[in-house]
Amino acid sequence: MCGIIGCVSDKDCCGALYDGLKRLEYRGYDSAGIAVLGKTLSVCKKKGGVSNLSGFYAAGGTGIGHTRWATHGAPSDANAHPHTSGGFALVHNGIVENYAALKEELEGEGEVFSSETDSEVIVKLIARYFEGDFLGAVARAVGRLEGSYAIAVICEKFPGELVAAKKKSPLVAGEGRGGLFVCSDIPALSGIADYIAKAEDGEFVHIAKGEINFYDRALRPLSKTFFRTQEELRGAAVAGGGYFMRAEIAEIPRALSDTLSSLEDKDFAPCARILRGAKRMFAVACGTAYHSALVFRDTVEREAGIPVVCHTAGEFRYRPALVGPQDVVVAVSQSGETADTLEAAYLARSRGAFVIAVTNIGSSTLAAAADFTLVMRAGAEIAVAATKSYNCQLLCLLYLAAQLVFFKKDRFPDWFSALSSLAEGASAAMDCFSETDRLADCLKKARAIYYLGRGTDLCTAREGALKVKEIACVFAEGYPAGELKHGSLALVEEGFPVICVSTQKNLLKKSENALAEVRSRGGFCVLFSQYREALADSCAQFSCLLPILPEPLMPVVSVIPLQYFAYKMCIERGLDPDKPRNLAKSVTVE
Ligand code: G6P
Repeated sequence: MCGIIGCVSDKDCCGALYDGLKRLEYRGYDSAGIAVLGKTLSVCKKKGGVSNLSGFYAAGGTGIGHTRWATHGAPSDANAHPHTSGGFALVHNGIVENYAALKEELEGEGEVFSSETDSEVIVKLIARYFEGDFLGAVARAVGRLEGSYAIAVICEKFPGELVAAKKKSPLVAGEGRGGLFVCSDIPALSGIADYIAKAEDGEFVHIAKGEINFYDRALRPLSKTFFRTQEELRGAAVAGGGYFMRAEIAEIPRALSDTLSSLEDKDFAPCARILRGAKRMFAVACGTAYHSALVFRDTVEREAGIPVVCHTAGEFRYRPALVGPQDVVVAVSQSGETADTLEAAYLARSRGAFVIAVTNIGSSTLAAAADFTLVMRAGAEIAVAATKSYNCQLLCLLYLAAQLVFFKKDRFPDWFSALSSLAEGASAAMDCFSETDRLADCLKKARAIYYLGRGTDLCTAREGALKVKEIACVFAEGYPAGELKHGSLALVEEGFPVICVSTQKNLLKKSENALAEVRSRGGFCVLFSQYREALADSCAQFSCLLPILPEPLMPVVSVIPLQYFAYKMCIERGLDPDKPRNLAKSVTVE
């Protein structure tokens, strides 16, 4: 998703902006740009990577930068930000929903646009409304906008000043040795800003005279507390030019240990009464987080006997009819900034439901919006495709499910004490990697892959399929093993790869039946299981032994070889796992 950064410094800021954009790269983007205010305004913006800007240098201590993830208008130099008008330069993250009407109005007044973006209308409005008051002009312009925005604006007439504003898209301000900053997220400011304050919807940030000041929507001054950036939000270092995704998979055992320690310190008393009385729950999330929500649903229904309705957050927003005051809604989001998940949480709260957030970022918007928050300790996740955060989300959700069982039945489930063996189990799952290397070598030319599972293994199958789609660009579908013969089997022909995850003893035979159907049609069958007898009795041409843990905990470890398989497939196909095509890490627009 787009990322914005702005800087006001005593020194030249071009290098700091470039470095900031490098740190924003992980959010996903397709073009980038920088504007620096020296004697005049210098702008460099290009389609493609941030490194395309490396040759640009302009002297000046005030500047803005942008990574663009195209929504309105294709990725191109012209559509890249910053956009300029009347001495102003602007970067924008979000979507201006009424931009067509505003553009028509401005064109009617003689304005000529040089891009197809929705963002350019904002800078044109600011220039039109400017009558000597920088902050006032920005405030008047954003008052006309519908939709979402985080913007940073500089102006030739105001060296050493920067104005930023936000609605629905994230914006933080930070102070550090290198200057004063605004930025889309905290991890991107790590190492350059030691103290951070968050802007809320409708607020403005004005950097002037070496100070950061916040204002409310009526431009009344606000007093904000700056907090120290957490050590764990600092970006994971990758030695020797490796990939973040690979480093983040390797970090899973550490991330699980840290997450468990923090859960053990967590006081569940504030939600005890709510959990004890819960008759029905909802779980909402997007992408990978949605798959962890599916595991939560299965676990809670099975162990606590409470029905859980699970929706992708984008769907939940438009079918919330049943949510009410007695309900508990669990919203899961690594970043805590995904627009759909946030809206789902707001909507649930407005209906009187109790919202529990599960997120990797304790200072995120989702955490602030929830009644109760579980923060996983995965550490900064830079690769767009989620890996370690998924395993940690599962741990948090299993822990929460165990608390529910306790509140309902006065005892913890049998597997609760085994949560402490998850980190070791995750390390053991990595023993599968050399076999997985061979599998990726074998399947690197595959055009499509089915992932099968039954029960909770279906959630793992779905996540495995999503990973390989996201980064290896191979069509994949996670499918209930029992449903194969009701349609999808039609595509199976000689050599068609089908990967089955089977970790539940009572379903081993059922999964094997599905593989037999594939094998007898010439398909290439792969089986992942912790049961030696299942592997020995299987018709699969390729199999892999998983570590043994109590079955309800298996999703945390059985997914690891699938995460690694997607990574290897991506490498085999010559793609960059950290920057998948068309995708963004944090999707802050609907
Ligand atoms: C994007 C990412 C996915 C991620 C999803 C939800 O689509 O590409 O990898 O799973 O957002 O992100 P969240 O931060 O809410 O977990």
